[in-house]
Amino acid sequence: MRNGQPYLDTEGRVIHAHGGWMLDHGGYTYWYGEDRRDNHYVAVYRSADRKNWEFRGHILSTDTPYEETSGRFDPRLSWERDGVRRKVNIERPKVLYNEKTKRFVLWAHYENGENYREARACVASSDQPDRDFVYHGSFNPFGEMSRDCTVHTDSAGDTYFVSASRDNADLHVYRLTEDYLNVDEWVKSIYNHEFREAPALFERGGRTYMISSYCTGWAPNQGKWCSADAVTGRWSLLRDFGDKTTFGSQSAFVYRDGERYWYVGDRWMGGEPKYFESTYVVLEIRFTEDGAPYIEWTDEPEMFN
Ligand code: GAL
Repeated sequence: MRNGQPYLDTEGRVIHAHGGWMLDHGGYTYWYGEDRRDNHYVAVYRSADRKNWEFRGHILSTDTPYEETSGRFDPRLSWERDGVRRKVNIERPKVLYNEKTKRFVLWAHYENGENYREARACVASSDQPDRDFVYHGSFNPFGEMSRDCTVHTDSAGDTYFVSASRDNADLHVYRLTEDYLNVDEWVKSIYNHEFREAPALFERGGRTYMISSYCTGWAPNQGKWCSADAVTGRWSLLRDFGDKTTFGSQSAFVYRDGERYWYVGDRWMGGEPKYFESTYVVLEIRFTEDGAPYIEWTDEPEMFN
């Protein structure tokens, strides 16, 4: 794999896992992400070595069945206007495994496909990592707007949903219910009026870190990092991460392999017709003695080669 170049699966097809996420389970790494072709929303690939990725299918599409968990949630994954069926937008899908319910739970950003005004979170789940997902609908957590998002399980075992709210001005932190199917508590509002997007969280040495981007649509900008003693604790100031365009990318997630951490970002096409497709930029995160994370450019990331 070469950074910023199309990356192929085991059948020689381009991997569509934009704005994605990786989950280790049962000896495989599952790579989830956006695939907006045809009637699809979320694709999944899996790999035993993180070099060869087998396409496993689409876990969310216009015809994923609905299963109600809350009557407040909107069940629609498509809608009709002038007799034409239209897709919604599902962005930044993240999948967690819930030990208690033994289910894989997906959280993502939902929009109606026409604009970004509904600003909702959406939820789906399955007892398999790569098939049989049922959709549980979209909603505004605590009535709030919710756009770019991520999830994070901390070392205490609590799981959080973090998303951009108030027209992207603030990041909200919500703790999930035990079954991960809903938000339980609106814990914090952080980086108010800093317009942070594309949050990606990880823990190292007892600290919680977040990488995020500024809000410039599909165009890359200066990434920033920050850290806290706990997700629910006190967050530091924002500091530069990567170069002025984060090496031409926007953060999707951080993948942890033992004591090694990898930044995975999207280099969005940005322009028509495939503005929502991206190539991937994967760089190892290193740390200064003071615990400040940094990345340096490399053409061929070791994680994928
Ligand atoms: C970006 C965001 C993407 C997508 C895009 C739409 O800022 O991170 O996920 O929503 O805006 O313009």
